[in-house]
Parts: sequence; structure tokens; C-alpha cells
Amino acid sequence: MSFVIRNEEVADHAAIGELTAAAFLTAAHASGTEAAIVRDLRVAGALVLSLVAVDPATDEIVGHAGFSPIETEMPGHWFGLGPLSVNSGLQRTGVGSALVRAGLTQLTNMGAAGVVLVGDPAYYGRFGFAARPGLACEGVPDLYVQAFAFRKPPEWCPIAFHPAFFTAK
Ligand SMILES: CC(C)(COP(=O)(O)OP(=O)(O)OC[C@H]1O[C@@H](n2cnc3c(N)ncnc32)[C@H](O)[C@@H]1OP(=O)(O)O)[C@@H](O)C(=O)NCCC(=O)NCCS
Repeated sequence: MSFVIRNEEVADHAAIGELTAAAFLTAAHASGTEAAIVRDLRVAGALVLSLVAVDPATDEIVGHAGFSPIETEMPGHWFGLGPLSVNSGLQRTGVGSALVRAGLTQLTNMGAAGVVLVGDPAYYGRFGFAARPGLACEGVPDLYVQAFAFRKPPEWCPIAFHPAFFTAK
């Protein structure tokens, strides 16, 4: 399908929430709070990059990727990718990949050090994400904690996602 990727606008907030809730309904690993996480990150001013994929024929939002600051002792600014959601009828058509790649490009241009995430290595490996020795996130098996450094890889350290990931209801 054809789609365009752009930054979220205020008028998109409700549609992003609905899309996120629907996408995670059938996901293998879901907390059910993903839409609330996006909302709470935004309210906290922590949704530093929020990209939507839009069907230009209908203006419908078919995908969304959120990025928020990470707490870590690694030097520079690190951002967490997630939630990442694609309309269930359009999954596996390239929307998610395009959102991830667009986010990596924008964050590189913003001077970020890199991106971390918790997710399936079988999916995120294609973008350059991998588990790293020393990289860890409390409560998550190391295999699923992955990072991508935009410049020289640092000495990998533990990371913590924004509190909204734990408090959202
Ligand atoms: C996971 C998700 C974001 C991927 O986006 P997408 O647009 O469907 O995926 P793309 O079209 O970019 O990529 C398709 C490729 O990824 C693979 N893929 C898709 N979802 C996958 C998953 N959950 N695990 C492993 N591989 C996956 C497909 O097999 C396909 O591989 P191929 O190119 O070798 O054939 C999307 O399926 C989704 O919204 N899922 C529900 C919510 C979710 O799980 N979000 C991620 C949480 S970490």
C-alpha cells in the first residue's frame, strides 16, 4: 500500500490511541496499557518524536511510532522506541519498517546517541538493533533489550524507560 509518514498533529491524538489499542489487542506481548502509555508520555512532554503513517487516499492513520527519553549512564541522549503499532489489516506491508527507519533518521538528525527498545529480535534485528553485553532493563530478559548506536558504540549500561511505561492505566 502507499502511505506517507509525518509527525503527529493534535487532531491525530484520538486516532493514535484507537490504533494503538487495536494493534495490541492481538499482539503476542501486550500489557493493554499501550494507548495510555502514548497518552501519558505526551501529557508528560516526553513523547519527543511521534510519527504517524497516513493513507493519503483516506487520511486514515494506519501506523504510529513513539519515541521517548531513556534514563541511562551511557553518554549522550538515548531514546526508547515504543509503542509501535500498525493497523491490524495492514500489518506486514512495510508500514512498521518505514516508521522505524523514519524515526531513526529523525533522531540521528536531532543529534541523538541512539535508540533502545524491548521487542522481538527477529523483527528489530533488520534495522540494526541487537542485545548488547551490559545493556539491561529491569524485569525484562536481556535477549529482548536491544540497542542501536548512531555513532561509536558506548560501553553498554542498564536503561530505564520513562515512568509512564509503568504508571499508565
Ligand atoms: C510488529 C509490527 C509493528 C510490525 O509492523 P509491520 O508493518 O506489520 O511489519 P513490516 O511490514 O514493516 O515488516 C514485515 C516483516 O516483519 C516481520 N514481522 C512482523 N511482525 C513481526 C513480529 N511480531 N515478530 C517477528 N517478525 C515480525 C514479518 O514476518 C515480515 O518479515 P519479512 O520481511 O521477512 O517477510 C506490527 O505487526 C504491529 O503493530 N503488531 C502489533 C503491535 C506490536 O506487537 N508492536 C510491537 C511491539 S514490540
